[in-house]
Amino acid sequence: MPARRLVTCLATLLVTTGVVLALLAGPALAAGPAAGSTACVPPPVAHRGASAGAPENTRPAFARALAAGARILEMDVRFTADGVPVVLHDATVARTTNGRGAVATMSLATLRRLDAGSWFSRAYRGTTVPTLWEVLGDGKRYHASYLVELKVVPTTEQLRRLLGRFNGLGVSDRVTVTSFHPEALSAVRAAQPTMRTALIDASTPRPPDAVLAMGTSYLPNVGAVTSDAVARWRGAGISVYPWTVGRQATWARLAADGVAAVITNRPAPYLDWARRVCAR
Ligand code: G3P
Ligand code: CA
Repeated sequence: MPARRLVTCLATLLVTTGVVLALLAGPALAAGPAAGSTACVPPPVAHRGASAGAPENTRPAFARALAAGARILEMDVRFTADGVPVVLHDATVARTTNGRGAVATMSLATLRRLDAGSWFSRAYRGTTVPTLWEVLGDGKRYHASYLVELKVVPTTEQLRRLLGRFNGLGVSDRVTVTSFHPEALSAVRAAQPTMRTALIDASTPRPPDAVLAMGTSYLPNVGAVTSDAVARWRGAGISVYPWTVGRQATWARLAADGVAAVITNRPAPYLDWARRVCAR
């Protein structure tokens, strides 16, 4: 074969191989987050998943957060009438599905027939309300950690099954059970003292002693989080997780204050910002 033809053949082979490899690698989302350390600032917690870009508390929202590089997921848990923990924020399904009625009155089978994606965008039509086990299972290969928020105080039987399943799945040490309800956290701590728990507050933040009665982490609303308050909590050994923070200026202030993590609906922009800051 003449040298020129040989060069042309090799070039064609290289281009074809590159195209095939690129196709096998899939779209950019599947390729994972861009390189670059984010370790100089607190990690993001994906609030209800990457809920600014996908329907909250659904498997696509959590997949999006994980693909962006987030490794801590926040989710809201309620129980169906047949006792299955499902991931859904509101007491009723009206806002985030095409159905009506209270979650606590529906069986899992009934809930699963609802569309939990179309309200957000047609692109998510057919998305279902996930069980807690599905969400935890999806995070496994990423070694994710979880803030599992109990929206209700579980019954003794619901709690027994919940903790048993955490233990069975081997995720107990990667779950922090959170709640606005101190009774829910007390029940968890009584049933399994080694389980991490953290109180959530919406308005008036609590002093360190009151926080420590419910766990060594605390989730105050960002509106009530001053630098002085963070210093007091940190001084008492409390890890602070402010919620829900969408603005870059606030991310920077909280990072400087030394919070443990920042709960945000926008984990991908947070990580982009973190890479820029940490590259300086
Ligand atoms: O993690 C705290 C935050 O999720 C509590 O508020 O209403 O978004 O569940 P909410
Ligand atoms: Ca929540």
